[in-house]
Formats: sequence, C-alpha cells, structure tokens
Amino acid sequence: MQFDILTLFPDMFQGALSTGLLQRAVSHGLVVVNLHNIRDYTHDRHHTVDDYPYGGGAGMVLKPEPIFEAVESLQSDIPSEQAAMLPIILLTPQGRLFSQQIAEELSRHAQLVLICGRYEGIDERVREHLVTDEISIGDYVLGGGELAAMVIVDAVVRLLPGVLGSEESLLDESHATGLLEYPQYTRPPVYRDWPVPEVLLSGDHGQIAKWRREQAIMRTLQRRPEMLDRAQLDNKEERLIERLKQLR
Ligand code: ADE
Repeated sequence: MQFDILTLFPDMFQGALSTGLLQRAVSHGLVVVNLHNIRDYTHDRHHTVDDYPYGGGAGMVLKPEPIFEAVESLQSDIPSEQAAMLPIILLTPQGRLFSQQIAEELSRHAQLVLICGRYEGIDERVREHLVTDEISIGDYVLGGGELAAMVIVDAVVRLLPGVLGSEESLLDESHATGLLEYPQYTRPPVYRDWPVPEVLLSGDHGQIAKWRREQAIMRTLQRRPEMLDRAQLDNKEERLIERLKQLR
C-alpha cells in the first residue's frame, strides 16, 4: 500500500516512520510512504504557501495552487482510471470522525493521498474541487493535520496482511469486535498481593474464552455503553447485559 502525504513539515514524520511497526512495514516493502513538501510546488522566489484571508480576520490561509499542483503531479504518475479512483483525503477537524471502520475501509485501497492542513485554514476551492474525503481524528483542534495523518497511517498499516506478527491479534482487540477488549495479564501470577484471575491459569480454553467474552461485554457496558447497540451479541449475551444493567 502507498501513502502520499502532502505537508509543510515532512520532518515531523521521521520518528513515526523510523520506529516500530511502521518502520518494519516499510522495510519489508509492505508499505511505501512518500512525503511531499507542499512548498516544493510553489513557483515564486519566497516559496509562498499561504496568504491573508479575503474578507479579513486572523491568521493565514493555505493557497490552493501548490496543493492542486502536488496532487495533480501524483495523479499524472498513474493510469487515468486509477487516478479517477484515488482517494484525496484532507485532514481537518471538520471531517468525518475517524474510526476502526474507516481504517478498515481505507486499508482496502492500494494508494491514499493525505493532505495536512496548517495555519487557520485552507482555501475552500481545495475542498470543493480536489478533495474526495475529509477526516478528523477527534473533536479537538491540532496545529495541523500531520499528527492526524500519522494516526491514520498507523491504524491502517497495522490492518494490512503480514504487518502484525499474528493475524489473530486483530480479531479480539478493542473495536474490531464492536466491543472493548477483555483485560490481559502476564507473569507473575501474583504481583504485590494482586493475583491474576484464576480462570486464566486453569488451562480450560472454553472457560477462558467465556470469561473474556463476558469481561469484554462488562467493560463495554461500563465504559462505552453506546457501542453495545452495534455489537453482535447472542441472546444469552443480551440477557447478561439486561441483568448487568439492572444491577447498576
Ligand atoms: N487538523 C487540525 N485538527 C485536526 C483534527 N482534529 N483531525 C484532523 N486534522 C486536524
């Protein structure tokens, strides 16, 4: 999978790309991340990327020309049918809220273009005539889209086949199942005077699976009850939730 990231601060990505999972995915050739400095697509002597807002007001607005040129240069490198399908995603607090479901959706594309906004805004014509999707990573305002782009790359890359050691670890984790993940423990069996739940030491895989499922349901009910409306639960589990709700 290939990510083309348009940014004014390519250096911000170095840490994320040179460590851990992302570094491994890149070095194994599973992922290509190309960083494009928006400033390289300017033509004036000062490499101007922003300008004052029409109508006045605080701050600067990113100019449309370098962003259009950067994206069009990427599009011209690929066959036109592919270019027509290429997602051009703007990172902005005004976008649709990023989720595991959107990460899965994006992971099915062979290539994504991510545009990192900066300053107070971006010329609206970029939104209207270039961008195909707008994504926010949460209801807060960052200094720019770079950290949001890294969040998206991280969440998408770990879903790609071969990136995680074991495909199984994707199956149970929080959000993948529509539930939060069950609690995990490792050695020692007793730390200070806090023991690991006995069932996990029992070797009874049926009981362990049952305990984990119940814990996931209880945890989701306590922390994110709205998620249960969309989780896939059997009748017995629905009844368990009703009982737990009565106890609250
Ligand atoms: N740029 C600034 N804030 C952002 C956010 N919350 N999500 C995505 N991009 C952003």
